[in-house]
Order: sequence, then structure tokens, then C-alpha cells
Amino acid sequence: MQITLTRPDDWHLHLRDGDMLKGILPETTRDFGRAIIMPNLVPPVVTSLDALQYRARIIDLLPEGDDFIPLMTLYLTEATDPADVAMAAKTGTISAVKLYPAGATTNSDSGVKNIENVMPVLERMAEIGLPLCVHGEVTDPSVDIFDREAVFIERVLAPLRARLPELKIIMEHVTTRDGVDYVNSAENIAATITTHHLIINRNHLLVGGIKPHYYCLPVAKREAHRRALVEAATSGNPKFFLGTDSAPHSDPNKESACGCAGVFSATNTMACLAHVFEDAGALDALEAFTSLNGPAFYGLPPNAGKISLTKQDTPVTFPAKIETGAGPVTVFDPGFPLYWSLT
Ligand code: NCD
Ligand code: ZN
Repeated sequence: MQITLTRPDDWHLHLRDGDMLKGILPETTRDFGRAIIMPNLVPPVVTSLDALQYRARIIDLLPEGDDFIPLMTLYLTEATDPADVAMAAKTGTISAVKLYPAGATTNSDSGVKNIENVMPVLERMAEIGLPLCVHGEVTDPSVDIFDREAVFIERVLAPLRARLPELKIIMEHVTTRDGVDYVNSAENIAATITTHHLIINRNHLLVGGIKPHYYCLPVAKREAHRRALVEAATSGNPKFFLGTDSAPHSDPNKESACGCAGVFSATNTMACLAHVFEDAGALDALEAFTSLNGPAFYGLPPNAGKISLTKQDTPVTFPAKIETGAGPVTVFDPGFPLYWSLT
């Protein structure tokens, strides 16, 4: 069995920098045409100049002849200058701005504490049609970690949308039915869904011993939520598209008493997704999810190239780890054999 798709894009990706970037970049560029590059470096990518320089470091490391396009983002801080954002958007340096509530996830200390303080930037973005990518979790220590997405919708997202309905928002890595329902109910809002959240629930993370390589933020939720995500992804609904949130950390940093959040899935994402969509009887909706809905929301044309996925008779093997100059990085294990390969 073989299917042909428009070359896919990844609408939420962590490429890191330096030796890690060098080691993991080919894992994405092999399959994907473009990716939205997350700005949570240390220090973060906050100005248009930072984004230009980071993009140059990525492009420098691309294999000869590779036409992968990194779509850059700025990390929104309470000191972000609306004029710098508007200039970066106008010159094509950036494709979006990322909102991290301060302290919500890996390298988010410079994030937003009070949304009031970034309203001038958001108003400018709404005016010029620049999308806001949102890490949708509250950081209030009294809110249970499994409820942080649902509470974010109620406390932050809904009020923000009421105030600035024209702002284009992407609810990144949505993990709950509440998130899916909210996105479905509102205008100018879409959501990315990760590969791993379509496959694992919180039992995979915690039952039979803690699995650090399944720990990410937002944390995987209960099975009913995973099913809601599969339904949304395989529905063909243009509001949902792939953002792998592939987020490499070295094994020592994951397998630790205080392990980092992040699942690295760039290497086998397309094989995993073909499996999930086939299982749902929805292979014909895979192209919309990986290759069409994302560009449409961002106002970009789909990629010109095509890829083919072929179902093999015997399982396809992927490396268990990618060796990088910054240490080994474990590749996401879906927990079932993969039969689809990219040709
Ligand atoms: C991401 C990272 O490692 O940068 N981690 C994660 O668990 N997803 C940050 C993020 O997107 O939340
Ligand atoms: Zn992320």
C-alpha cells in the first residue's frame, strides 16, 4: 500500500542551538519542508536581530542542497517592542510570536507574567495579521498540573479573545477535549497537535514505572482526552494541524531526579502518524493534517514537493537514539511496531 502526500511541515519544533542543533536538524529536514522554530533558547530569541541570527545558524548547518525553510518566531516578553515585531513580520523574518506564561515549561522564565503588559504588542499583531502561538497552561501553583490547560482557556484565552477577537491564535500542543472543544467553538483560532499526544496517555507515562522519555509539557492526559485529539486530527477539520513539539534533551537530562520535559519525535513522526491515521480509518485525512491545514492558517501556500509513504510487510526500524555533540537523544517509542516508511 502506498500513499502520496504534499510534503509536510512541522508547525511547532524545537531545534535548540550549537551541537544539539547540528545533531538533530537532519532528523527534521529529511521529511519536512518547513517548520515553525520555537524561540525558547537560553537566552531566548526576543528581538528581530536574534531571530535573523538564529535563522542564519540553522541555515548554515543545512546539508548541501537541502531546501528546508525555518519559519522563525519571537519569544514574547513584557519588554517586547511592538515596532520591532511589526518590522520583523513585514520583512518576513518571523512568521509568529510565541507566548509562554512565565515558568510554564522549559526555558520560560522570561515569559509573560501579566498579559496586560503585552497588550500593545498583541494589538499590533492583530492589526497586521501576525499569528500568536500560545503555550496554553496556567502556572498558578494551586492549579493541578492535569488541569492547567483547561484553566488557561477560562482564565487567559477566553478573556483575551473577547478583547482582541481579530488576533489569530494557535493553541499549541493541545492535549484535552476542553481544548479541542474550545478551538472548535471560536473564530480565528486553530491548534497544533503533537505526534506523541495522539499515541500516549498518562498511563503510558506512569504505570509500571516512570518513563522519563514520555514526560513533556503539557503532560499527557487521560485516555478520553487522547481520543478527542485523534478525532480532531483525523477529522480533516482545517483548525487542527501537526506541530510535533519535538523537543530534544540529552538522555542524562531526561533520566534524572528532576528530568526535563520534552519528547523527541522528529525521526519517526511520519511513520507514527501514518499508523495512527490508518488505525482510525482516516489515511485520506493525513495530508490535510500534515501538509495543508497549517499553511492555510498561516496564509502560506502548501509545499510544492511530494512524499510517498509505503506500508511494508515487516516493521521498519528507526534508531533508538540520535547521537549528538551534546549527548545522546532518545527517539520517541510509540510502543507498537511501525510499518510505514517514507520514500
Ligand atoms: C519544550 C522544550 O523542551 O523546549 N518541552 C516540552 O515538554 N514540550 C517546551 C514546550 O514546548 O513546552
Ligand atoms: Zn514546544
